[in-house]
Amino acid sequence: MSEHLIISGETKRERYEALLPQIASVVEGESDLIANMANVAAMLHETFGFWWTGFYRVVGEELVLGPFQGPMACTRIRKGRGVCGTAWAKAETQVVPDVEKFPGHIACSSASRSEIVVPVFREGVIIAVLDIDSDRLATFDQTDRSYLERVVEKLC
Ligand code: SME
Repeated sequence: MSEHLIISGETKRERYEALLPQIASVVEGESDLIANMANVAAMLHETFGFWWTGFYRVVGEELVLGPFQGPMACTRIRKGRGVCGTAWAKAETQVVPDVEKFPGHIACSSASRSEIVVPVFREGVIIAVLDIDSDRLATFDQTDRSYLERVVEKLC
């Protein structure tokens, strides 16, 4: 694999289409989940210039901060709390156009305006969530949801 990410494309769909095979090639050559989370976070972050891109891992009854790119963040989130804990509890991707309108949103950074959280399943069980924050409103839509769900499928 090239050491440099080469992603071109005008639309987000074109960028995801270019990114997916590169993520697949990185992940398929490595069995360590944390290493793969680290590279996936870096590749998404670099491609789209998000505010914060990373993973929280399920550890017992909490989500614990995992590999990420961006400013420092809260380390532990309880099930059902915030956008991340809601995605875990409901076992469903959460697309939040305006974080101020999401009851219980956890503000790790005041710059975050919109967010998407995608559960990571292994054999039907959620083992982590992918959390992405944007410093703009309404960054994420069903296109992001569908591509990011395909991205996290590659992890397990
Ligand atoms: N906003 C998240 C917390 C994690 S940070 O955004 C990195 C939430 O409400 O769960």
